[in-house]
Amino acid sequence: MNFILTEEHEAVQQAARDFARNQLLPGVIERDIETRFPAREAKMMGELGFMGMMTDPAYGGGGMDTLSYVIAMEEISKIDASAGVIMSVNNSLVCWGLQEFGTEEQKQKYLTRLASGEVIGAFCLSEPEAGSDATSQRTTAEDKGDYFLLNGTKNWITNGGSASIYLVIAQTHPELRHKGINCLIVEKGAEGFAVGKKEDKMGIRASDTHSLMFADVKVPKSDRVGDDGFGFKFAMSTLNGGRIGIAAQALGIAAGAYELSVSYAKERKAFGKPIAEHQAIQFKLAEMKTKIEAARLLVYKAAKMKDEHMDYVEAAAMAKLFASETAMWATTEAVQIHGGYGYVREYHVERMMRDAKITQIYEGTSEIQKLVIAREILK
Ligand code: CAA
Repeated sequence: MNFILTEEHEAVQQAARDFARNQLLPGVIERDIETRFPAREAKMMGELGFMGMMTDPAYGGGGMDTLSYVIAMEEISKIDASAGVIMSVNNSLVCWGLQEFGTEEQKQKYLTRLASGEVIGAFCLSEPEAGSDATSQRTTAEDKGDYFLLNGTKNWITNGGSASIYLVIAQTHPELRHKGINCLIVEKGAEGFAVGKKEDKMGIRASDTHSLMFADVKVPKSDRVGDDGFGFKFAMSTLNGGRIGIAAQALGIAAGAYELSVSYAKERKAFGKPIAEHQAIQFKLAEMKTKIEAARLLVYKAAKMKDEHMDYVEAAAMAKLFASETAMWATTEAVQIHGGYGYVREYHVERMMRDAKITQIYEGTSEIQKLVIAREILK
């Protein structure tokens, strides 16, 4: 596989880097402290084409490949991992899912608004009692003839309050277990749909994470994605691509913390010389760079395999597992290199360490990624 970036890829990288440095960096600390959603910045991401990068231009997207998407995700997450997750969910779970499996009517009605960044989307799979065990859906979508009656609660939903369009996974035929699950499109404002409390999170605090409540919400049959019972397959298929996006977010967090560490190590003096001249710090930087490069290659490989329409389930799981573990480790090292300064907000790396943690949890925990990889090995 050739991972030399083309001129187009370099242009995407530069555009994302410039946007992140000029628009996301100012205020990133304050947004984290105040748990303030980057509304202005998210709108700009839409205008610049970052919210529907892989979507067909016929539906308002950028028509780019997955490699372009992960390159942009890395640059944006280097500076602001909250903006990274807002972008990732919209691109790879919501837009990609609708483009791949939605009807023409659904694409015209929903995808065009989502891909252009006019509105934001949310992907609603997790429940109070269905996290890793995603087949155990308690939310029900009762078939009432020409509509579904949706009832239940979803938890930890990224973009939960800021979204306008929600993809909701729910059980229609419990006797069929995961084969009875459907995915329904619900718009904010639907009668019976309420956005619940906003979570006070450890990291990615500027992204808004909510519980959602559905009480007798009527969803027309035309807003079901795919055939009856396709919902779980839909969720798993979109998550395969979503995991590449989150792997790129984790890569960005790790790379951002590494870059800050290199700069700091050159400036900070101890025992009469810059700490970069001490072997203890040099070894940390060398190991960080090596692991980050390995993570980047896994992320690029998964993206390329998706672009080439190869089976990328295992590659996506490996990329997410390795990149998120690297992000947690590298940000912890970055705090260590920064010493006391690393433990305070002003120097960014403490936020990055908190942000890194969620990449080991959402879109499938590290343990679930290992399960997915092991199943691929043994199948
Ligand atoms: N790709 C495609 N299909 C898959 C799949 C995959 N990666 N994994 C499972 N499936 C299919 C299986 O083929 C099977 O279908 P068939 O019966 O037709 O063969 C069906 O799904 C059920 O699979 P299993 O029998 O393997 O079910 P299981 O219960 O043993 O395991 C699981 C399923 C892999 C653990 C799954 O529940 C899982 O991935 N859990 C993690 C859930 C998750 O990632 N949640 C993320 C929430 S969204 C989020 O985090 C967004 C955000 O905020 C950023």
